[in-house]
Amino acid sequence: MKQYGRITGWGKSVPERILTNHDLEQMVDTSDEWIVTRTGIRERHIAGPGETTSSMSVEACQQALERAGVAPEEVDLVIIATSSPDYFCPPVSSMVQDRLGATRAGAFTLVAGCTGFVYALVTANQFIETGLYEKILVVGVETLSPAVDWTDRNTCVLFGDGGAAVLVEASDQPTGILSCELGSQGQDWDALIAPGYGTVKPFSEETLRNGDHYLRMDGRRVFKFATRKMTNSVINVVQESGLTWDEIDLVIPHQANARIIDLAVRRLKIDPEKVMVNVDRYGNTSAASIPLALCDALEEGRLQSGDHVVLVGFGAGLTWAAAVLHWQPVAEEPIAVDDWPLLSNLFQPVTRVRNAVWSTQVTARARLQDMALAAMTPINQWQRRFKRD
Ligand code: UT7
Repeated sequence: MKQYGRITGWGKSVPERILTNHDLEQMVDTSDEWIVTRTGIRERHIAGPGETTSSMSVEACQQALERAGVAPEEVDLVIIATSSPDYFCPPVSSMVQDRLGATRAGAFTLVAGCTGFVYALVTANQFIETGLYEKILVVGVETLSPAVDWTDRNTCVLFGDGGAAVLVEASDQPTGILSCELGSQGQDWDALIAPGYGTVKPFSEETLRNGDHYLRMDGRRVFKFATRKMTNSVINVVQESGLTWDEIDLVIPHQANARIIDLAVRRLKIDPEKVMVNVDRYGNTSAASIPLALCDALEEGRLQSGDHVVLVGFGAGLTWAAAVLHWQPVAEEPIAVDDWPLLSNLFQPVTRVRNAVWSTQVTARARLQDMALAAMTPINQWQRRFKRD
């Protein structure tokens, strides 16, 4: 019998300490007004002593297991999506597996930048669909603060620490991921980079002096990539799912910048009420941002059983990923599939045509906006230079 991946438990963990924009005003040449208007961020959580990628993962996983009523020994696999493990070696996933008491579980760490959680969820789903595993913990977690240059206003106002987890269990009822897309645009690998963290430039006095261990970002390049990919990948997965836009109840985008989300929302002509935004409270938590937003959406009652939700991420790599999920955390009466094939077969071509018209309109609109933005950029640059002079 075909198995589907049902999310049955979830949990989150963020550091106690909150760093506000006003705190940052005391540290670098910035203002609350600049940060809010350019990013939508008001505050972020920053890890203190003892708050690590593994400790936040363990807390989030324990909540997820408790919620699902599953014991740690029953877990088959632990997947941790992160770019900021406790150590370069060993993999943080094994530390989490041990601290959870998930004695039977395999464990691995997945690195795909801010897109990591969606990559990990899709991976977990594959293990379940093949029938190999039945209970998988998927975590998105980051402790980016040690990799932030707290004297660089271009980056230090953006990032925050935190983590969240889901438990995916095998189910014989159709639910979980309906469609997905995983992408990589590797030619832009240097758009978001910590050059002194790897083997190309091993740690040395020189890398320390140059600050090569800090994150550097070509913000504008990533911004352009993010708005384009967010729009296109949402179109692709919604179309592939066979659902119409009206049947999508919630979109949970990667929380990097409220302006990126706004632009994509306008291009897609989505009702902003259907879009989860919590970047104001956490900043950009990279791989943690989508599962944190999922947990907050559930806490706020924005997701009900039977709903369809789109997850969409973008980030270092550069990578992107999107998925449409049928949300049904608790098993319900099986759908009597034999009762409705005739009706659904009749409607399928209509749905396909409606989806095609919608996606053509959105793509054309996005192209026009890109062209208008490209035309405006030199004018804006000239205006800024003129103002400075
Ligand atoms: O999660 C991974 C994916 N990451 C992203 O998606 C991030 C994508 N990029 C962005 O969100 C935006 O590019 C940023 C928020 C990073 C920057 O916003 P921007 O509107 O692209 O600003 P900018 O880099 O063009 O800088 C505009 C001005 C510059 O001054 P001049 O050259 O015009 O005089 C910057 O020096 O703003 C200045 N600036 C600041 N001013 C006050 C940059 N950072 C700050 C700051 N406070 N914190």
